[in-house]
Amino acid sequence: MTSQIIPVDPFDFIIFGGTGDLAERKLLPALYYRQRDHQFSEPTRIIGTSRSKMSDAEFRAFAKKAIQEHVAKEDLDTKELDKFLGRISYIAADALSGEGFDNLKKELGDSERIRAFYLAVAPALFGEISHKLKEHKMITPKSRIVVEKPIGRDLDSAHALNDLIGKDFHEGQIFRIDHYLGKETVQNLMALRFANALYEPLWNSAHIDHVQITVAETVGLEDRVTYYDKAGALRDMVQNHILQLLCLVAMEAPASMDADAVRDEKLKVLRALKRINGNDAPKQTVRGQYRAGASAGGPVKGYVEELGKESDTETFVAIKAEIANWRWAGVPFYLRTGKRLASRVSEIVIEFKPIPHSIFGENAGPIFANQLVIRLQPGEGVKQYIMIKDPGPGGMRLRQISLDMSFAASFDGRAPDAYERLVMDVIRGNQTLFMRRDEVEAAWAWIDPIQHAWESARHEAQGYTAGTWGPSASIALIERDGRTWHESA
Ligand code: BG6
Repeated sequence: MTSQIIPVDPFDFIIFGGTGDLAERKLLPALYYRQRDHQFSEPTRIIGTSRSKMSDAEFRAFAKKAIQEHVAKEDLDTKELDKFLGRISYIAADALSGEGFDNLKKELGDSERIRAFYLAVAPALFGEISHKLKEHKMITPKSRIVVEKPIGRDLDSAHALNDLIGKDFHEGQIFRIDHYLGKETVQNLMALRFANALYEPLWNSAHIDHVQITVAETVGLEDRVTYYDKAGALRDMVQNHILQLLCLVAMEAPASMDADAVRDEKLKVLRALKRINGNDAPKQTVRGQYRAGASAGGPVKGYVEELGKESDTETFVAIKAEIANWRWAGVPFYLRTGKRLASRVSEIVIEFKPIPHSIFGENAGPIFANQLVIRLQPGEGVKQYIMIKDPGPGGMRLRQISLDMSFAASFDGRAPDAYERLVMDVIRGNQTLFMRRDEVEAAWAWIDPIQHAWESARHEAQGYTAGTWGPSASIALIERDGRTWHESA
């Protein structure tokens, strides 16, 4: 997508977990793209760190391979890649023993450049690293720390983790990533709502019947056995990505794009979510786990076989959520997410209320309610479904069509990955697309009662065949209310 590239001030980007999966698949390729698009000023540096002993040359070779494997061939520019590799160095450091932190300090020197410490490591190490950075006096006023989810596994642990990091960094320096906020189409949701006069007057319970948010994946466990089996879909996807999407759909217009203006509004939505307790959970939530089936044209194992041991962890969740405030009272938000579903699709469907009266008579056929479908991935775009007269003779017959705005058809070029936007926002010090502490905790405060309700009622995950749309209870959840899931192709 064509965009104006504004160079950022020189910075030192320190990746803890520099040889890990996130660095390899996302961070190094994202940084390469920003180099290729000339967004760096001199003398920007990228420093990898992890426990392994490695030379600069070895880490550069790792970075080169990561970029060659994860950047599209047509985007590989040898000159820019060499320049990028020239910025890279490596320091071995152990967060637990503190060994190597002196060397990191030496490497950073006493420069006043922006410092971004990116913690691409297990959350158990967040506090240790942040504390060692403080002990070794590496935290300057221009330093920031970046942390990835999971930020806790419930409200108490999130609180404790936030307290730990908060001892060493102040809130304005803490960047909690939810990579969904970096996706172009997610940001576009704000543009759609607040840069158009058309939708906002209708964006409330008087005109909207319900909202659906689907984040469906076809992948299974991948290589994340230990993490995923302890987390499950509720913690892995709903607590963060899905609730963030819900906030962007439901929030009031912030006064500006200023970080706190946006985050204040999101927080109000999270706090207005109606708690789902033990009595409501069986009616308002569905837990599922995939069984053997088919995906991408081939047979796939069930979750338990993939895992290699018995487990009741959910790989699918559907929830009927409600927001108890003036704008949304009585408008259900149906949320669903799962692994090994029929197709990979993330979308938000806003279904408007039906027309109050039809003037067309029975022969015209059914009149479907207007729907606005915001497709986050793949095939990013927005579709507005409306009714028209079926062209040609034969009387007044009506038909539903979509006004279709596909991003790929409307814009040239590649859509940048979420991490490209987010790492540059870290450098710019712009926290609008990052979660504030109170937001993360408010999200957990809503998730915890659901988790407790499931645990105390031994609400078992219902099996669904891999390659389908989840357990039949998910269909019943919405159909009970006389509605249906939007058919995502
Ligand atoms: C991550 C989850 O946050 O998001 C994964 O931990 C999930 O389980 C992933 O697969 C989905 O992200 P995306 O960008 O591929 O939709």
